[in-house]
Amino acid sequence: MTVTVVPSQQVLNPQLEIAGGRRLSGEVRVSGAKNSALVLMAASLLTEDTLRLRNVPPLTDIAGMGEILASLGVGVRRGSDSIEMDGSGLNQSAPPYELVNSLRASFFCIGPLLAKLGIARVPLPGGCQIGTRPVVEHVKGLKALGAQVTIEHGVVSAVVPGRGHRLKGGRIHLDCPSVGATETLMMAAALADGETVIENAALEPEVVDLAGLLIAMGARVRGAGTPTIRIVGVERLHGADYAVIPDRIEAGTLLLAAAITRSTLTVGPVITDHLGAVLTKLEEVGCRLDIDGTCVTISADQIRAVDLRTQPFPGFPTDLQAPFMSLLATAQGTSVITEHIFENRLQHVGELQRMGAAIRMQGNTAFIEGVHRLSGAPVKGSDLRASAAMVLAGLAADGITTVQGLEYLDRGYADLEGKLNAVGATIRRVG
Ligand code: EPZ
Repeated sequence: MTVTVVPSQQVLNPQLEIAGGRRLSGEVRVSGAKNSALVLMAASLLTEDTLRLRNVPPLTDIAGMGEILASLGVGVRRGSDSIEMDGSGLNQSAPPYELVNSLRASFFCIGPLLAKLGIARVPLPGGCQIGTRPVVEHVKGLKALGAQVTIEHGVVSAVVPGRGHRLKGGRIHLDCPSVGATETLMMAAALADGETVIENAALEPEVVDLAGLLIAMGARVRGAGTPTIRIVGVERLHGADYAVIPDRIEAGTLLLAAAITRSTLTVGPVITDHLGAVLTKLEEVGCRLDIDGTCVTISADQIRAVDLRTQPFPGFPTDLQAPFMSLLATAQGTSVITEHIFENRLQHVGELQRMGAAIRMQGNTAFIEGVHRLSGAPVKGSDLRASAAMVLAGLAADGITTVQGLEYLDRGYADLEGKLNAVGATIRRVG
């Protein structure tokens, strides 16, 4: 039998070591929005000019999207918080499987590729930890704009028949207000011949941010942020210099870090309209919020139980369900959380139970009986937001919590431990 001795200082999987029970105080800065920056980068495929995005967060997902664009021939230059993309070199219509497979959002590239080149071959993104994540609405919409689409061997192949291979404007009714489908079809319709109407469109702020960029590139888009979006296609789009909105999910996570440690903290920049449902729930549990322009100062001491259900925007965001559950695990009373968006997004419950949380599950509903104190333990995040929930629980827990699953955390949070340490936390990244 061979025994492998691992020297004590080398940790196999990188992890965070969190010493719990510290109060936080001060100001913490919110980065640009991951879920906006990713789709705005895909929009660079729509023009031969240079597109410059500012306030772009330093995340592994952003680097992944940059690699995918580069594989298609787009020149990509990364700055400290900006990125420049030169679409004049676009010469490929099929991003590599391995790159798409690791980044679901890259599937949205099928829209601008088809609009610009009249052909696109994009691997199916497949499911992930939180659900099957179908792309039925994306494909249905592209067909409504005149594309012929086939799905074989795990690849979606789309081509626009006829001279000029140009998509034609059309009417699309989405069966569900999918964020990704709305964004994919907005980009496809921007260069189509004629008007496109997207009904039951997603209302998320990232959809509105995409419309803002497309308009800055010369597109004719109306109604973003409402259930009906109208796009009159143009022949050509030009470059632009555009700033990504602040990340409402990161902002919510930082506000929850203050609430779970019963601290006072100022978080910004935040566009409060983007966080309506979250700020309401924070007030319902007993937090005091002082809003000053784009800064929110939160103070918390007693936390009461509440019920919440995740819904499309402007409802409570599914991406903050897990982090909010960590808070409610320490509240007075019993809370009920129902996850309505993704069919498999309660995997963090087991890890919170490992830390002493009293949670019962029934289908997509969790019943959380608050406990006085969580206790530090070795836990693992199963996806991006579950990892963030573990970090928050570790901040409030008694003793040391070690959090693995950083490959997920780093996809969506830019130096979370650095930001929290700067306001009083004690977190160490090892390995
Ligand atoms: C976006 O994913 C976000 N990702 C997700 O954030 C976020 O959770 C989600 O919107 C909902 O807000 C990015 O923007 C990159 P959907 P997306 O299509 O576009 C069903 C994070 O943590 N559906 O709006 O993939 C689907 O199964 C990530 O940052 C269909 O049924 O989400 C799901 O149940 C995770 N058919 C629901 O709609 C379709 O064709 C919402 O999915 C498409 C979707």
